[in-house]
Amino acid sequence: METVLISGANRGLGLALAQKFAEAGWKVIAGCRNPAQATALTALQEGHDIQICKLDVTNPDDIAALAQQLGDEPLDVLINNAGILDANRNDLSSIDYDEWQAIFATNSMAPVRMSLALKDNLKRSPNPRIVTVSSEMGSLNQNLEGAIAYRTSKAAVNKAMQVLATNFASDGITVVPIHPGWVRTDMGGPQAAISPKESAEGIFLLASGLNNEMSGRFWTWAGTEHPW
Ligand SMILES: NC(=O)c1ccc[n+]([C@@H]2O[C@H](COP(=O)([O-])OP(=O)(O)OC[C@H]3O[C@@H](n4cnc5c(N)ncnc54)[C@H](OP(=O)(O)O)[C@@H]3O)[C@@H](O)[C@H]2O)c1
Repeated sequence: METVLISGANRGLGLALAQKFAEAGWKVIAGCRNPAQATALTALQEGHDIQICKLDVTNPDDIAALAQQLGDEPLDVLINNAGILDANRNDLSSIDYDEWQAIFATNSMAPVRMSLALKDNLKRSPNPRIVTVSSEMGSLNQNLEGAIAYRTSKAAVNKAMQVLATNFASDGITVVPIHPGWVRTDMGGPQAAISPKESAEGIFLLASGLNNEMSGRFWTWAGTEHPW
């Protein structure tokens, strides 16, 4: 049985990913900030191998405790899914710079801290993979306005994952940022193009088939390569 660890697994895409992997017979380690309030995730435990753990990805103590809790357990796939978006993303006249830092901490730095903290567990897998949920909004190819904090945080995490892919190549760890599609979640909104289930199914297929040759490249939920 393979094991996946998913951050932000209590709602949105993270919850759909937890469901997809669990239904496919994987062991799921599901991180969330408030396990006591994660009712949908807790309900999913029935009939599935889902272990819920407290994980605020911006809290180094939570990440260290998680790594300690895992001990020598092999980890096949790490999905850095937790993410946040600018609350006031269309108004450049009132940028909240403190919020921008918080967005960087969550979207850009936490996936690196998670990847480094869990590297030894990943190395115990025969096919270790890190999938970081980024966004097309961070692509330098996309020239659109607004959401300056979110866009730069996703551009940064794309670069960070490219660096990690190179650093981890000698350990056989595949590292990819992905665009999950425009998804109907609290973040994506009700008008978004695809359901969390559709996105999760695509990401599951992509993660299942990832290999070293695909490392350090930017992919979409549909399995196609995305321009940086
Ligand atoms: N939806 C889209 O169209 C879309 C498009 C491109 C990329 N993405 C990316 O997809 C990922 C998932 O987004 P979503 O649409 O599912 O968003 P969402 O519905 O807003 O859910 C975000 C999840 O991230 C968690 N989270 C936020 N900050 C966290 C932290 N510091 N520690 C741990 N968990 C934290 C939230 O937990 P709480 O419940 O505790 O807040 C929640 O579980 C994000 O990285 C997002 O940037 C989404």
